[in-house]
Formats: sequence, structure tokens, C-alpha cells
Amino acid sequence: MPTFERLEGAVHCDGLPLAELAERFGTPLYVYSAESIITRYREVDDAFRGYPHRLHYALKANSTLGIARLVRSLGAAADANSGGEIDVALRAGFTPPEIVFTGVGKTATELHRAIDLGLRSINAESEGEIERIDAIAAARGTTARVAVRVNPDIDARSHPHISTGLKTNKFGVAISDAREMCLRMRGRRGLRIVGLHSHVGSQITQLEPLRRAAEALVTLARELKDAGITIEHLDIGGGLGISYEGQPVPTAAEYANSVLPIVRESGLDLILEPGRFLVGQAGVLVARVVDIKPQAGGKLFVIVDAGMTELMRPMLYGAYHRIEHVQSVSRPDAICDVVGPICETTDTLGKDRRLAQPEVGDLMAVFDAGAYGAVMASNYNRRPMPAEVLVQNGEATVIRRRQTIDDLVALES
Ligand SMILES: Cc1ncc(COP(=O)(O)O)c(C=O)c1O
Repeated sequence: MPTFERLEGAVHCDGLPLAELAERFGTPLYVYSAESIITRYREVDDAFRGYPHRLHYALKANSTLGIARLVRSLGAAADANSGGEIDVALRAGFTPPEIVFTGVGKTATELHRAIDLGLRSINAESEGEIERIDAIAAARGTTARVAVRVNPDIDARSHPHISTGLKTNKFGVAISDAREMCLRMRGRRGLRIVGLHSHVGSQITQLEPLRRAAEALVTLARELKDAGITIEHLDIGGGLGISYEGQPVPTAAEYANSVLPIVRESGLDLILEPGRFLVGQAGVLVARVVDIKPQAGGKLFVIVDAGMTELMRPMLYGAYHRIEHVQSVSRPDAICDVVGPICETTDTLGKDRRLAQPEVGDLMAVFDAGAYGAVMASNYNRRPMPAEVLVQNGEATVIRRRQTIDDLVALES
């Protein structure tokens, strides 16, 4: 059964009508399907079966505790991108040896905490950062496990704002410098180089950049071995894209078939950091139409009660999200700009969408909003963050209650 299907004209999430959930929990509302996350997790895990690997779920995609706990229950470990995500990972039940810590610009406080916890690895971004890790760990009489994030100068062919693997991007140590740098770091008291890491971007829909990035890591691992530096793992990051517009995208099996033959040669443990692929399709944002305005040329503005404060992707990257009526209606089609209520012209969820003419009070579903949706929500215009609901085994559970104005001002004096 597809996660979100239309039954007798009404979109359901794993058997529950979205309209009923919107009535119960209000709008705007995020609804997630546990079943979808479970299926996607197994797809990736099965694809890599037979080779020692671990999926470190990229919390940045969706770190609501209920989602993190669900992914953990499936056997995942975690990829945290900040001190906050490390804490969320711990609260979700991940143990320190199950957490890798990635991220440009780790603060001294974050590094102290990561070293004290003894994470599986700190994915270091620069020589300066590695030196700081060494100094902190040595002063504490301990040894930090470090993986070097390498920038392989590979074009992920994704949106420029989510491409991270070109030498002009801020991420990682240039591949051309990495070997020499590792040699310089050899023998440092506070360090143990346990891995190599790369993540060349997100929403990648061609396998070639991912394969080339894996190749770059394997080659570097071999060079290090020849120089007497033996590591434990290769971390090939996340990045596998999903189909927002119905376009064909690689399956997890195709991804595995493309990178595994390369990685196998190294014999090293493999870490993957999927985010979007696991949770992107599992979420829908439900919004209610609050106003309709005619535009020149017969188009309509359909103003809904969700916007860039709930889902930033269209405004950040010009990302496309399918938008449909939650309940089918038989009205003539209209070309609509589905916009939010925020006081910014960019606040547009979908442009030029053909929809059966919406009316005030209708519910609209914005699909594929499970990744980089709720996590990027903001309080701009003093809007409380939306509620999030997880549907599992025919039951809907609030995994994040709607914020109140009291929550919003609680930190202020
Ligand atoms: C280091 C790192 N790992 C994993 C991910 C997850 O990427 P995705 O959600 O595209 O799988 C990201 C996100 O860009 C990232 O920066």
C-alpha cells in the first residue's frame, strides 16, 4: 500500500484520513508515516547487506525525537551536525559509540563534549580543527577518534545550495592536501585517525558523483595504508535523492551496486549517512486555505495557513513539492500560486499549479515534506511551530505538540 493514497477521494496516511487528522490536531500539521520510514530504512540496509556497514541516520533531515527513536529502533546509528543534535541523539537512545559528529565550525564547547563522550568519530573539517581536537584530548589524557572529512572536488550535480563536494564549497579538507595532513597528524597523543569521510551534497539523483566520491576515499585510504596509517572505516555520507516530481531516481540497490564494488576493495567498515532518502517521502504538510485572490491573467493566489515558516525548501532552493487537495473536489481547474501568510514575497509553496479551484476552508497536502521540513521551521512573524504527528499501526501520535505563544515568549523578559 502506498504511504499516502487517495481512497474515495480523500488522501489517507497509512489508512487514516488526513482530513480527520487536521480536524483533530489543527493546521498547519506535519503528518509522518512510520511504515514509509521503516520500508525505506530496510531498502537501504538490505542493499548493503553482506558488507559490514552501519546507517548513521542524518538527524539534520528530521530530528524530532519520535522520528529519531523510530529510526533507532530499526537498528540505525546517528549522524549529528551540532551539539544540539548530539544531545537529541542521546535523548533518543543512541549511545556515544553510535554517533558520528559532522559539521563545519564546531565550537570549543562542542568539541569538548564530543571528546568527553567518546563518539564513534568526530568528522573533522580542517587541519586547524584536528589540532584543536588533539590539544583538548591530550590535555584530558584521552584519545579522540577522528575521521577526516575530505573534499573530493566532485560536482554532485544537485542544486548549488546543497552541493558540498566542490573545492569552492566550505566543506572538508581538500583531497590534494589530505594525505600530507594525515601524515603530519601521525603520532599526535590526542588523536586516532579512524576514518575518512565525504559528503558531496544532498538530493543527488545521479550515481556517478557518489561513486567517484567513494573512489576518492578508497584511493586515499590505500595511500594512507601504504604510509603506515591504518584506519577502520570509510564514511560515504548521505545525499541519495528522492523523486519530488515523479522523475526517475536511483534505488538504494542501484546505489549499493554502484559504490560497493569500489568500497569492497578497501575491506574497511562502511558508514552511510542517509537522511532525505529515509524520511523525505514519509511526511506531508497539511495546510488550510485561508484566502483566495484573483491575479492578472486569470490565475489565483491560494493563501494557505502554512508557508516558509513551516517549509523553507521552496524558498531556499526553488524546490518543488507536489500540492493536492486533501479531499477531491469537482470544480473547474484553475492555475494557482499556493502561497503562505508570511510577510515576504518569496513565501510561495508552489507556483503555477493546476488545481480544482480551491475555496476557503479546503485542506491542501504538500507532499514529500518529511526531510528538511519541520527541522527548518522558524518563528518568523511570531508564528508558533506546527504540530507533528506520527502514524503507526493505524494510530496517530503527537510527537511534537504545536507551540503556543506562551512557549514563544517564555525565554523573554
Ligand atoms: C555530512 C552530511 N551527512 C549526511 C547528510 C544527509 O544528506 P541527505 O539528507 O541528502 O541524505 C548531510 C546533509 O546534507 C550532510 O551534510
